[in-house]
Amino acid sequence: MASEAETVPTGENVLEWAQKDKRRMLHAVYRVGDLDRTIKFYTECFGMKLLRQRDIPEEKYSNAFLGFGPEESHFVVELTYNYGVDKYDIGTGFGHFAIASEDVYKLVEDVRAKGGKVTREPGPVKGGKTVIAFVQDPDGYLFELIQRGPTPEPLCQVMLRVGDLERSIKFYEKACGMKLLRTIDNPAYKYTIAMMGYADEYETTVVELTYNYGVTEYTKGNAYAQIAISTEDVYKTAEVVKVVIEELGGKITRPAGEIPGINTKITSFLDPDGWKVVMVDNTDFLRELHKTE
Ligand code: CO
Repeated sequence: MASEAETVPTGENVLEWAQKDKRRMLHAVYRVGDLDRTIKFYTECFGMKLLRQRDIPEEKYSNAFLGFGPEESHFVVELTYNYGVDKYDIGTGFGHFAIASEDVYKLVEDVRAKGGKVTREPGPVKGGKTVIAFVQDPDGYLFELIQRGPTPEPLCQVMLRVGDLERSIKFYEKACGMKLLRTIDNPAYKYTIAMMGYADEYETTVVELTYNYGVTEYTKGNAYAQIAISTEDVYKTAEVVKVVIEELGGKITRPAGEIPGINTKITSFLDPDGWKVVMVDNTDFLRELHKTE
């Protein structure tokens, strides 16, 4: 048997390779109780485009992909509808998605006019200037609306709650090759957040990790599933992730390899809090996109 140590990158080069790998946030996957209802809400209220849709009757589910631009260059949402399931538990750990808009006040009025639920009226954040609002989609997923100038990526955040922020920052840096873009500590409201991503926070989608003082456990529910990230090499990624999981916790849920029948190479894992990440071979991903169009 060949020594495993030969293929496992160690120490500094773990970080280095993961940082140099060509990575991008591809999509967030979650379940909805009525695909048409959500498509209508996202296109009419948020201005998203329906990018593609597929029905897999033999597996009893359908998917719809929506976003603000083509999947080749934009982060999108991948909705899953499982036949006959019209309700899900979002749990306490999932936070929100966010949409940047040049006019949050108008966007909130549009959402309200279409029957959407506004859970936080538009206005400046406490102690700051940025105008935000929160609205709920038909399944109860929260969307933060953030006032911002023109941006190439309006679908700009996936917020997840974590039990140990330092551990999570290290995990997303090392296993996912993300950069820590900024942290904000808010002692008055007893939370700290960390923005993690691959580029400038205002030009790309970031993972917003929130630590609430003293809270280490959350429920996962069964609604939100995972984020997908592109990589140039799923095998090398899996080796890196294995090393990082030994140090920080987490779990490989799918070793690197091709998905049978599709030939797209992926690997998937859970972060130390149990949030799932799927790494997808970038070339396979682009080939898949063009095949289904
Ligand atoms: Co947010």
